[in-house]
Amino acid sequence: MTDFTLNGKPVSTSPATGERLSETLRESLGARDVKIGCNAGDCGACTVLLDGTPVCACLTPTQQAEGRQVHTLTGLQDDEIAARLRESFQDFGAAQCGICTPGMMVAAVALLRKNPDPTTEQVQDTLGGVLCRCTGYRKIIEAVLAVTNPAPALDDPVGHTGAAIRRLDGQAKVEGREAFGDDIAPAGTLEILIIRSPYARAEFVLADLDGFITAHDGVETVLTAADIPGQNCFGVIPDFADQPVFAVNETRFRGEAVAAIIATPDFIRQFDPAGFPVTWEQLVDAQSIEQALDASAPQLHEGRKGNIMCGGFVKCGDPETALDNADITVQADFTTSFVEHAYIEPEAGFAQMVNGRVEIHACTQAPVMDRDALELILAMDANQIRIVPTGVGGGFGSKLDLSVQPYLALATLKTGKPVRLTYSRTESLQSTTKRHPAQITLQIGAKSDGTLSGFNFFGHFNTGAYASWGPTVANRVPVHASGPYRIADYRAETQAVHTHSPPSGAFRGFGVPQSAVAQETLFDELAEKLGMDVLEFRLINALDNGVPTVCGQVFEQGVGVKPCLEALRPAWDSERAKAAAFNAENEFLKMGVGLAAGWYGCGNTSLPNPSTIKSGIRADGTVVLHQGAMDIGQGANTVIAQIFATALGVPV
Ligand code: FES
Ligand code: FES
Repeated sequence: MTDFTLNGKPVSTSPATGERLSETLRESLGARDVKIGCNAGDCGACTVLLDGTPVCACLTPTQQAEGRQVHTLTGLQDDEIAARLRESFQDFGAAQCGICTPGMMVAAVALLRKNPDPTTEQVQDTLGGVLCRCTGYRKIIEAVLAVTNPAPALDDPVGHTGAAIRRLDGQAKVEGREAFGDDIAPAGTLEILIIRSPYARAEFVLADLDGFITAHDGVETVLTAADIPGQNCFGVIPDFADQPVFAVNETRFRGEAVAAIIATPDFIRQFDPAGFPVTWEQLVDAQSIEQALDASAPQLHEGRKGNIMCGGFVKCGDPETALDNADITVQADFTTSFVEHAYIEPEAGFAQMVNGRVEIHACTQAPVMDRDALELILAMDANQIRIVPTGVGGGFGSKLDLSVQPYLALATLKTGKPVRLTYSRTESLQSTTKRHPAQITLQIGAKSDGTLSGFNFFGHFNTGAYASWGPTVANRVPVHASGPYRIADYRAETQAVHTHSPPSGAFRGFGVPQSAVAQETLFDELAEKLGMDVLEFRLINALDNGVPTVCGQVFEQGVGVKPCLEALRPAWDSERAKAAAFNAENEFLKMGVGLAAGWYGCGNTSLPNPSTIKSGIRADGTVVLHQGAMDIGQGANTVIAQIFATALGVPV
């Protein structure tokens, strides 16, 4: 037994040897305000106070808490410093998705108890062990500093669009009450362990699964492709859907699922997946764009010849002639890499059968798309499937795709029992979507007066083993590769290439940031060669109201890139002067200042992007709004309510 005091109350628990304090707190003692981001001491989401000192609960064996005081965020309800932090975190928007907030606030309480008036550097140092993927940290630092030096509170009584108001869902986040994907399931719920391919490409054979189930206490069942009542296929773009829930015979990326064990938490904790009855034969793979485009490369999908999934193309004017007539041209090749979304909350959820209906609680950016996909996988009507979105601890695009949902649904359907599944950080990294790596060749010309004269772009985008949002990337990039500039003579072509890598998908910009890197870099080079200031060069070419884009679209109002660039001018001048002064004084350490513009169209490229809201009026006159845009930290719950209230002329 281990006895300690949790949030002021004595507790007694029987942890396994070396059990993590985070697990004991969450699973045995119900302290779900302690979050797990990495289970490796890297993210700080699990920070608790041990005798007043912040520690990573995931690195602390529970036995070390014997006889000591443990405080989590909910145990600090009556703490005066925590109370002030709750207010300032809301006033400064320091809790966005909120998954890091409990750890961040606990660490801040410890700092402010020791040092009631810290400097910015001291706040940065102390909170440096707690990662936040949403805020950029500045808001958090300001919120902590404001505990001692309060800023005016946000008190707009109407709260219409344009007013800075507190998040409507902020209180739960700063009190540690927000429930995320792994916070729903009762302790002791059956768990799912997915068996994944150890190779980028392999043939595999599943052996005696019935024998495996019988031989292992705690194993309820095993799921494979044979358990899928409907289609073993999903994808966010219906015409390109190609990803199996479970691979059949051959895997296409390392980490792809081939089977899943449904078992008790004790079994899952102790089981080594190497003991699962599957044999693998590694096959030659093609993980890079070059390998996949080689004539001898294995083909990933029938009907996608040469591993080209699809392409995109935009042309206007006569780019070849314009480049020939340019006074100066620049050209370069650019390569960008995979980027992981790295939200602090890994994919997680819980499912159960309720009155014959499968009910899935999961962190998701797209509950309606989840339900549509599950209709096909489960061969069930939409009204037999209920998706209940939990809090989402960061998404950034990747939680638009299915992850845990089909495994949860299949497991609860097969067993009739509640089940839960939370990806480890390794599983999340291996199996969920990434930003597309790109290989771009770009040539741009300009006249001596700085006006652009010809633009020729070609990009390969590594879309991985399955389509996901690859078609959107392939189509969106040619539309956007011009940046927010007027280019009369333009050509942009893309190809999305399948490789034996994790699927690439949506990630803040659908390929546009990759093309912007190339275009903005060459704009700097052109300006430099023309002897022009890079800001002036951009202003000469920036789009404006009434000026056509490369697709011929003419915005009659609201084109803001020129005013944005103009607004930057004072900072641009002062920062460059600062850098020049610094560089004059320092021989080895140098400072640089950069400037870039970007644009990004709203909506699903080349796809409808429908939405529906429901609203009504209660007997007491209050207005009710139901809307389905998930708040993943970006503030949709608040902003959409503001828009709605503004349209109706009522206060939020
Ligand atoms: S540091 Fe403990 S969960 Fe990340
Ligand atoms: S608010 Fe910090 S990770 Fe989302």
